[in-house]
Amino acid sequence: MASKPETVGQGRWSLTKRLGAGSFGEIFMAEDRSSSLKVAVKLEDTATKSPQLFAEAKILRSLRELPALPRVIWYGTEESYNILVMTLLGHSLEEILNAAARQMSLRGTVQVAEEMLLRVEDVHSKDVIHRDIKPENFLVGRNTEARSLFIIDFGLAKKYRDVRTGVHIPYKEEKSLTGTARYASLNTHLGLEQSRRDDLEALGYIFIYLQKGKLPWQGLPKSSHKDQYRGIMETKMRTALPVLCKDLPPEFCSFLQYCRMLKFEETPDYTYLKRLLKQICIANKITTFGKFDWEVDLSEVRSCSSGEKKKRQRRKSVSTHRKSIAIAENRKVSKTQGEGSNSTATKVAMGPRLSQEARARAGRSGRVSPLPGKGSRCRLF
Ligand SMILES: Nc1ncnc2c1ncn2[C@@H]1O[C@H](COP(=O)(O)OP(=O)(O)O)[C@@H](O)[C@H]1O
Ligand SMILES: [Mg+2]
Repeated sequence: MASKPETVGQGRWSLTKRLGAGSFGEIFMAEDRSSSLKVAVKLEDTATKSPQLFAEAKILRSLRELPALPRVIWYGTEESYNILVMTLLGHSLEEILNAAARQMSLRGTVQVAEEMLLRVEDVHSKDVIHRDIKPENFLVGRNTEARSLFIIDFGLAKKYRDVRTGVHIPYKEEKSLTGTARYASLNTHLGLEQSRRDDLEALGYIFIYLQKGKLPWQGLPKSSHKDQYRGIMETKMRTALPVLCKDLPPEFCSFLQYCRMLKFEETPDYTYLKRLLKQICIANKITTFGKFDWEVDLSEVRSCSSGEKKKRQRRKSVSTHRKSIAIAENRKVSKTQGEGSNSTATKVAMGPRLSQEARARAGRSGRVSPLPGKGSRCRLF
Protein backbone atom coordinates (compact mmCIF):
# COMPACT_ATOMS: atom_id res chain seq x y z
CA MET A 1 0.00 0.00 0.00
CA ALA A 2 1.26 3.50 -0.85
CA SER A 3 1.95 5.83 2.07
CA LYS A 4 -1.23 6.74 3.89
CA PRO A 5 -3.01 10.01 3.12
CA GLU A 6 -2.84 12.79 5.73
CA THR A 7 -6.55 13.47 5.56
CA VAL A 8 -9.65 11.84 4.08
CA GLY A 9 -13.19 12.95 3.26
CA GLN A 10 -12.15 16.15 1.45
CA GLY A 11 -9.95 17.10 4.35
CA ARG A 12 -12.57 16.51 7.05
CA TRP A 13 -10.68 13.82 8.99
CA SER A 14 -6.96 13.77 9.82
CA LEU A 15 -5.47 10.33 10.16
CA THR A 16 -3.63 9.80 13.42
CA LYS A 17 -2.69 6.31 14.63
CA ARG A 18 -2.66 3.06 12.75
CA LEU A 19 -5.06 0.68 14.50
CA GLY A 20 -4.51 -2.45 12.54
CA ALA A 21 -3.91 -4.08 9.25
CA GLY A 22 -6.26 -6.67 7.95
CA SER A 23 -5.97 -9.00 5.05
CA PHE A 24 -7.49 -6.51 2.70
CA GLY A 25 -6.47 -3.08 3.94
CA GLU A 26 -5.37 -0.89 6.80
CA ILE A 27 -7.32 0.75 9.61
CA PHE A 28 -6.46 4.12 11.11
CA MET A 29 -7.79 6.27 13.87
CA ALA A 30 -8.73 9.72 12.61
CA GLU A 31 -10.09 12.92 14.05
CA ASP A 32 -12.74 15.25 12.71
CA ARG A 33 -10.87 18.51 12.27
CA SER A 34 -13.79 20.66 13.32
CA SER A 35 -15.47 18.61 16.05
CA SER A 36 -12.42 16.56 17.21
CA LEU A 37 -14.62 13.46 17.22
CA LYS A 38 -12.59 10.33 16.65
CA VAL A 39 -13.45 7.79 13.98
CA ALA A 40 -11.96 4.68 12.38
CA VAL A 41 -10.89 4.80 8.74
CA LYS A 42 -10.45 1.70 6.62
CA LEU A 43 -8.32 2.14 3.52
CA GLU A 44 -8.21 -0.16 0.52
CA ASP A 45 -5.83 0.32 -2.37
CA THR A 46 -7.84 0.98 -5.52
CA ALA A 47 -5.37 -1.22 -7.40
CA THR A 48 -6.38 -4.29 -5.37
CA LYS A 49 -7.46 -7.28 -7.46
CA SER A 50 -10.62 -7.95 -5.50
CA PRO A 51 -11.96 -4.70 -4.04
CA GLN A 52 -14.48 -5.24 -1.29
CA LEU A 53 -14.63 -2.08 0.78
CA PHE A 54 -17.70 -0.59 -0.86
CA ALA A 55 -19.50 -3.92 -0.70
CA GLU A 56 -18.68 -3.90 3.03
CA ALA A 57 -20.02 -0.36 3.37
CA LYS A 58 -23.21 -1.40 1.58
CA ILE A 59 -23.73 -4.40 3.85
CA LEU A 60 -23.05 -2.27 6.94
CA ARG A 61 -25.65 0.21 5.71
CA SER A 62 -28.19 -2.58 5.27
CA LEU A 63 -27.54 -3.58 8.89
CA ARG A 64 -27.66 -0.05 10.31
CA GLU A 65 -30.73 -0.69 12.49
CA LEU A 66 -28.88 -3.33 14.48
CA PRO A 67 -27.15 -2.55 17.76
CA ALA A 68 -23.41 -3.01 18.27
CA LEU A 69 -22.26 -2.63 14.67
CA PRO A 70 -20.00 0.18 13.47
CA ARG A 71 -21.94 2.96 11.76
CA VAL A 72 -20.87 4.05 8.30
CA ILE A 73 -20.09 7.78 8.48
CA TRP A 74 -18.68 8.35 5.01
CA TYR A 75 -17.21 6.42 2.11
CA GLY A 76 -15.65 7.31 -1.19
CA THR A 77 -12.50 7.19 -3.29
CA GLU A 78 -9.65 9.67 -2.95
CA GLU A 79 -6.32 9.47 -4.73
CA SER A 80 -5.46 5.78 -4.82
CA TYR A 81 -7.70 4.66 -1.96
CA ASN A 82 -11.20 3.44 -1.37
CA ILE A 83 -12.07 4.82 2.04
CA LEU A 84 -14.61 3.86 4.67
CA VAL A 85 -15.08 6.12 7.70
CA MET A 86 -16.93 4.49 10.58
CA THR A 87 -17.43 4.40 14.35
CA LEU A 88 -14.23 4.04 16.31
CA LEU A 89 -14.25 0.98 18.57
CA GLY A 90 -11.98 -0.41 21.26
CA HIS A 91 -10.08 -3.64 21.84
CA SER A 92 -10.75 -6.90 20.07
CA LEU A 93 -11.58 -10.15 21.77
CA GLU A 94 -8.18 -11.46 20.70
CA GLU A 95 -6.47 -8.62 22.57
CA ILE A 96 -8.65 -9.25 25.59
CA LEU A 97 -7.66 -12.92 25.51
CA ASN A 98 -3.99 -11.94 25.33
CA ALA A 99 -4.44 -9.65 28.29
CA ALA A 100 -6.03 -12.52 30.22
CA ALA A 101 -2.85 -14.60 29.72
CA ARG A 102 -4.77 -16.43 26.97
CA GLN A 103 -7.37 -18.02 29.15
CA MET A 104 -10.69 -16.45 29.82
CA SER A 105 -12.71 -17.34 32.88
CA LEU A 106 -15.77 -19.51 32.34
CA ARG A 107 -17.98 -16.62 33.34
CA GLY A 108 -16.18 -14.28 30.94
CA THR A 109 -16.45 -16.81 28.15
CA VAL A 110 -20.18 -17.28 28.62
CA GLN A 111 -20.68 -13.52 28.81
CA VAL A 112 -18.98 -12.91 25.49
CA ALA A 113 -20.54 -16.05 24.01
CA GLU A 114 -24.00 -14.68 24.74
CA GLU A 115 -23.06 -11.34 23.19
CA MET A 116 -21.51 -12.91 20.10
CA LEU A 117 -24.49 -15.19 19.58
CA LEU A 118 -26.84 -12.19 19.74
CA ARG A 119 -24.74 -10.31 17.18
CA VAL A 120 -24.72 -13.25 14.78
CA GLU A 121 -28.44 -13.90 15.22
CA ASP A 122 -29.15 -10.21 14.51
CA VAL A 123 -27.03 -10.24 11.37
CA HIS A 124 -28.76 -13.41 10.17
CA SER A 125 -32.14 -11.81 10.82
CA LYS A 126 -31.20 -9.20 8.20
CA ASP A 127 -30.50 -11.86 5.53
CA VAL A 128 -26.71 -11.66 5.88
CA ILE A 129 -24.07 -14.21 6.84
CA HIS A 130 -20.72 -12.92 8.05
CA ARG A 131 -18.37 -15.69 6.86
CA ASP A 132 -15.36 -14.56 8.88
CA ILE A 133 -16.38 -15.08 12.50
CA LYS A 134 -13.26 -14.85 14.67
CA PRO A 135 -12.07 -13.09 17.85
CA GLU A 136 -10.33 -10.29 15.89
CA ASN A 137 -13.70 -9.36 14.41
CA PHE A 138 -15.44 -8.70 17.74
CA LEU A 139 -14.54 -5.35 19.30
CA VAL A 140 -15.56 -3.69 22.51
CA GLY A 141 -17.31 -0.33 22.19
CA ARG A 142 -15.93 2.92 23.58
CA ASN A 143 -17.18 5.31 26.24
CA THR A 144 -20.90 4.75 26.84
CA GLU A 145 -20.81 1.65 24.64
CA ALA A 146 -17.97 0.01 26.53
CA ARG A 147 -20.25 -2.76 27.71
CA SER A 148 -21.16 -3.96 24.22
CA LEU A 149 -19.27 -6.33 22.02
CA PHE A 150 -19.46 -5.10 18.43
CA ILE A 151 -19.19 -7.27 15.36
CA ILE A 152 -17.03 -5.82 12.57
CA ASP A 153 -15.48 -6.67 9.21
CA PHE A 154 -18.20 -7.44 6.71
CA GLY A 155 -15.72 -7.66 3.85
CA LEU A 156 -16.57 -11.31 3.22
CA ALA A 157 -20.24 -11.12 4.22
CA LYS A 158 -22.96 -12.21 1.86
CA LYS A 159 -26.75 -12.16 1.56
CA TYR A 160 -27.93 -15.73 2.11
CA ARG A 161 -31.54 -15.07 1.13
CA ASP A 162 -33.44 -12.65 -1.00
CA VAL A 163 -34.65 -9.72 1.08
CA ARG A 164 -38.04 -9.55 -0.66
CA THR A 165 -38.86 -13.17 -1.45
CA GLY A 166 -36.93 -14.84 1.37
CA VAL A 167 -35.56 -17.42 -1.10
CA HIS A 168 -32.33 -18.98 0.19
CA ILE A 169 -29.17 -19.00 -1.95
CA PRO A 170 -28.66 -22.36 -3.66
CA TYR A 171 -26.57 -25.16 -2.24
CA LYS A 172 -23.21 -25.38 -4.01
CA GLU A 173 -20.13 -27.52 -3.80
CA GLU A 174 -16.55 -27.02 -4.91
CA LYS A 175 -16.39 -23.59 -3.32
CA SER A 176 -13.02 -22.38 -2.21
CA LEU A 177 -12.49 -21.38 1.37
CA THR A 178 -13.75 -17.95 2.33
CA GLY A 179 -12.89 -16.81 5.84
CA THR A 180 -10.24 -17.87 8.32
CA ALA A 181 -9.10 -21.48 8.35
CA ARG A 182 -8.73 -21.72 12.13
CA TYR A 183 -12.42 -21.10 12.78
CA ALA A 184 -13.88 -22.40 9.53
CA SER A 185 -16.67 -24.97 9.79
CA LEU A 186 -16.08 -28.48 8.50
CA ASN A 187 -18.48 -27.85 5.63
CA THR A 188 -16.55 -24.73 4.65
CA HIS A 189 -13.36 -26.82 4.54
CA LEU A 190 -15.27 -29.35 2.48
CA GLY A 191 -16.05 -26.69 -0.11
CA LEU A 192 -19.76 -26.24 0.54
CA GLU A 193 -21.47 -22.89 0.08
CA GLN A 194 -21.70 -21.24 3.49
CA SER A 195 -24.96 -20.51 5.25
CA ARG A 196 -26.07 -19.59 8.77
CA ARG A 197 -24.84 -22.85 10.27
CA ASP A 198 -21.22 -22.04 9.38
CA ASP A 199 -21.16 -18.72 11.28
CA LEU A 200 -22.48 -20.59 14.32
CA GLU A 201 -20.00 -23.45 14.08
CA ALA A 202 -17.20 -20.86 13.99
CA LEU A 203 -18.63 -19.37 17.20
CA GLY A 204 -18.48 -22.81 18.79
CA TYR A 205 -14.74 -23.05 18.01
CA ILE A 206 -14.18 -19.57 19.43
CA PHE A 207 -15.77 -20.59 22.75
CA ILE A 208 -13.29 -23.47 23.05
CA TYR A 209 -10.45 -21.17 22.02
CA LEU A 210 -11.36 -18.65 24.71
CA GLN A 211 -11.48 -21.37 27.34
CA LYS A 212 -8.37 -23.28 26.32
CA GLY A 213 -6.32 -20.51 24.73
CA LYS A 214 -5.71 -22.54 21.61
CA LEU A 215 -7.23 -25.07 19.28
CA PRO A 216 -5.65 -28.43 18.37
CA TRP A 217 -5.12 -27.38 14.76
CA GLN A 218 -2.96 -24.42 15.69
CA GLY A 219 0.80 -24.62 15.44
CA LEU A 220 0.91 -27.46 12.95
CA PRO A 221 4.37 -27.95 11.42
CA LYS A 222 5.34 -25.17 9.07
CA SER A 223 4.56 -26.04 5.49
CA SER A 224 3.17 -24.39 2.43
CA HIS A 225 -0.14 -22.61 2.86
CA LYS A 226 -1.76 -25.32 0.81
CA ASP A 227 -0.51 -28.09 3.08
CA GLN A 228 -1.20 -26.13 6.24
CA TYR A 229 -4.74 -25.52 5.11
CA ARG A 230 -5.21 -29.22 4.51
CA GLY A 231 -3.58 -30.03 7.85
CA ILE A 232 -6.02 -27.77 9.68
CA MET A 233 -8.96 -29.41 7.98
CA GLU A 234 -7.76 -32.93 8.65
CA THR A 235 -6.95 -32.22 12.31
CA LYS A 236 -10.36 -30.62 12.73
CA MET A 237 -12.00 -33.69 11.26
CA ARG A 238 -9.92 -36.11 13.29
CA THR A 239 -10.59 -34.38 16.60
CA ALA A 240 -13.82 -35.79 18.00
CA LEU A 241 -15.94 -33.11 19.64
CA PRO A 242 -15.84 -34.71 23.13
CA VAL A 243 -12.05 -34.65 22.87
CA LEU A 244 -12.02 -31.06 21.67
CA CYS A 245 -14.29 -30.07 24.55
CA LYS A 246 -12.61 -32.24 27.20
CA ASP A 247 -12.65 -30.69 30.69
CA LEU A 248 -15.17 -28.06 29.61
CA PRO A 249 -18.88 -27.87 30.43
CA PRO A 250 -20.65 -30.40 28.15
CA GLU A 251 -22.87 -27.68 26.69
CA PHE A 252 -19.94 -26.40 24.60
CA CYS A 253 -19.83 -29.81 22.96
CA SER A 254 -23.62 -29.83 22.46
CA PHE A 255 -23.35 -26.39 20.86
CA LEU A 256 -20.92 -27.63 18.24
CA GLN A 257 -22.76 -30.91 17.74
CA TYR A 258 -25.95 -29.00 17.04
CA CYS A 259 -24.25 -26.63 14.57
CA ARG A 260 -22.68 -29.51 12.68
CA MET A 261 -26.07 -31.21 12.37
CA LEU A 262 -27.83 -28.22 10.85
CA LYS A 263 -28.93 -28.52 7.25
CA PHE A 264 -27.81 -25.99 4.66
CA GLU A 265 -31.00 -23.90 4.59
CA GLU A 266 -32.20 -24.70 8.10
CA THR A 267 -33.05 -21.81 10.40
CA PRO A 268 -30.92 -22.38 13.48
CA ASP A 269 -32.69 -22.63 16.82
CA TYR A 270 -30.93 -19.68 18.43
CA THR A 271 -33.10 -20.05 21.54
CA TYR A 272 -31.78 -23.57 22.06
CA LEU A 273 -28.20 -22.30 21.70
CA LYS A 274 -28.84 -19.51 24.19
CA ARG A 275 -30.36 -22.04 26.56
CA LEU A 276 -27.19 -24.12 26.36
CA LEU A 277 -25.21 -21.09 27.50
CA LYS A 278 -27.68 -20.46 30.31
CA GLN A 279 -27.32 -24.07 31.42
CA ILE A 280 -23.57 -23.55 31.79
CA CYS A 281 -24.35 -20.67 34.15
CA ILE A 282 -26.80 -22.71 36.19
CA ALA A 283 -24.56 -25.76 36.44
CA ASN A 284 -21.57 -23.66 37.43
CA LYS A 285 -23.44 -21.20 39.64
CA ILE A 286 -22.32 -18.19 37.67
CA THR A 287 -24.19 -15.13 36.60
CA THR A 288 -23.38 -13.24 33.45
CA PHE A 289 -24.67 -9.97 34.84
CA GLY A 290 -22.13 -7.42 36.00
CA LYS A 291 -18.63 -6.59 34.89
CA PHE A 292 -17.16 -8.12 31.78
CA ASP A 293 -13.71 -9.67 31.77
CA TRP A 294 -12.51 -6.84 29.56
CA GLU A 295 -13.25 -4.23 32.17
CA VAL A 296 -9.67 -4.41 33.36
CA ASP A 297 -6.85 -2.02 32.66
CA LEU A 298 -5.08 -3.20 29.53
CA SER A 299 -2.92 -0.10 29.11
CA GLU A 300 -0.44 -1.49 31.62
CA VAL A 301 -0.31 -4.79 29.79
CA ARG A 302 0.80 -3.06 26.62
CA SER A 303 3.75 -1.34 28.20
CA CYS A 304 5.50 -4.44 29.54
CA SER A 305 7.20 -7.50 28.15
CA SER A 306 5.20 -10.62 27.39
CA GLY A 307 6.57 -12.63 30.37
CA GLU A 308 5.93 -9.80 32.73
CA LYS A 309 2.62 -9.24 30.99
CA LYS A 310 1.48 -12.76 31.86
CA LYS A 311 2.58 -12.45 35.47
CA ARG A 312 0.83 -9.14 35.86
CA GLN A 313 -2.29 -10.44 34.28
CA ARG A 314 -2.42 -13.43 36.57
CA ARG A 315 -2.13 -11.06 39.49
CA LYS A 316 -4.82 -8.91 37.98
CA SER A 317 -7.19 -11.76 37.42
CA VAL A 318 -7.30 -12.47 41.14
CA SER A 319 -7.73 -8.87 42.10
CA THR A 320 -10.71 -6.81 41.09
CA HIS A 321 -9.77 -4.19 38.56
CA ARG A 322 -12.33 -1.65 37.80
CA LYS A 323 -10.79 0.59 35.17
CA SER A 324 -12.34 0.42 31.78
CA ILE A 325 -10.14 -0.35 28.82
CA ALA A 326 -12.57 1.00 26.34
CA ILE A 327 -11.27 4.54 26.37
CA ALA A 328 -7.65 3.57 25.87
CA GLU A 329 -6.52 5.50 22.83
CA ASN A 330 -3.04 4.08 22.67
CA ARG A 331 -4.21 1.08 20.86
CA LYS A 332 -1.72 -1.45 19.58
CA VAL A 333 -3.18 -4.34 17.75
CA SER A 334 -1.69 -7.63 18.74
CA LYS A 335 -0.72 -9.80 15.87
CA THR A 336 -0.61 -13.37 16.89
CA GLN A 337 1.06 -15.78 14.60
CA GLY A 338 -1.11 -18.61 13.61
CA GLU A 339 -3.97 -19.68 11.50
CA GLY A 340 -6.38 -17.03 12.67
CA SER A 341 -4.42 -13.85 12.57
CA ASN A 342 -5.06 -11.28 9.93
CA SER A 343 -1.41 -10.43 9.71
CA THR A 344 -0.39 -12.63 6.84
CA ALA A 345 -3.58 -13.13 5.03
CA THR A 346 -3.26 -15.37 2.09
CA LYS A 347 -5.38 -16.00 -0.90
CA VAL A 348 -5.14 -19.67 -1.50
CA ALA A 349 -5.61 -20.76 -5.04
CA MET A 350 -6.94 -24.14 -4.10
CA GLY A 351 -10.08 -25.60 -2.77
CA PRO A 352 -10.55 -28.37 -0.27
CA ARG A 353 -8.98 -31.68 -1.12
CA LEU A 354 -9.81 -34.44 1.27
CA SER A 355 -7.83 -37.26 2.75
CA GLN A 356 -9.47 -40.69 2.63
CA GLU A 357 -10.25 -40.46 6.29
CA ALA A 358 -11.76 -37.05 5.89
CA ARG A 359 -13.89 -38.31 3.03
CA ALA A 360 -15.11 -41.22 5.11
CA ARG A 361 -16.05 -38.91 7.96
CA ALA A 362 -17.71 -36.50 5.61
CA GLY A 363 -19.70 -39.39 4.19
CA ARG A 364 -20.85 -40.53 7.63
CA SER A 365 -22.11 -37.10 8.50
CA GLY A 366 -23.90 -36.82 5.20
CA ARG A 367 -21.53 -34.26 3.80
CA VAL A 368 -20.42 -34.28 0.23
CA SER A 369 -16.76 -34.39 -0.65
CA PRO A 370 -16.17 -31.72 -3.21
CA LEU A 371 -13.41 -31.26 -5.69
CA PRO A 372 -10.98 -28.38 -5.40
CA GLY A 373 -12.52 -24.98 -5.96
CA LYS A 374 -11.07 -21.80 -7.37
CA GLY A 375 -10.14 -18.30 -6.28
CA SER A 376 -10.20 -18.61 -2.49
CA ARG A 377 -10.69 -15.58 -0.30
CA CYS A 378 -9.00 -17.22 2.57
CA ARG A 379 -7.25 -15.89 5.62
CA LEU A 380 -5.11 -18.86 6.30
CA PHE A 381 -2.73 -17.73 9.03
N1 LIG B 1 -14.14 0.48 13.75
C1 LIG B 1 -12.97 0.11 14.26
N2 LIG B 1 -12.50 0.68 15.39
C2 LIG B 1 -11.31 0.30 15.92
N3 LIG B 1 -10.51 -0.64 15.41
C3 LIG B 1 -10.93 -1.26 14.27
C4 LIG B 1 -12.15 -0.91 13.64
N4 LIG B 1 -12.29 -1.68 12.54
C5 LIG B 1 -11.20 -2.45 12.49
N5 LIG B 1 -10.37 -2.22 13.50
C6 LIG B 1 -9.07 -2.90 13.79
O1 LIG B 1 -8.45 -3.26 12.58
C7 LIG B 1 -8.38 -4.70 12.44
C8 LIG B 1 -8.64 -5.08 11.01
O2 LIG B 1 -9.90 -4.58 10.60
P1 LIG B 1 -10.93 -5.44 9.73
O3 LIG B 1 -12.12 -4.60 9.40
O4 LIG B 1 -11.21 -6.72 10.44
O5 LIG B 1 -10.06 -5.66 8.43
P2 LIG B 1 -9.83 -6.96 7.54
O6 LIG B 1 -11.02 -7.06 6.66
O7 LIG B 1 -8.63 -6.65 6.73
O8 LIG B 1 -9.68 -8.10 8.49
C9 LIG B 1 -9.44 -5.23 13.43
O9 LIG B 1 -9.17 -6.54 13.88
C10 LIG B 1 -9.36 -4.21 14.54
O10 LIG B 1 -8.26 -4.47 15.38
MG1 LIG C 1 -10.91 -8.64 10.22
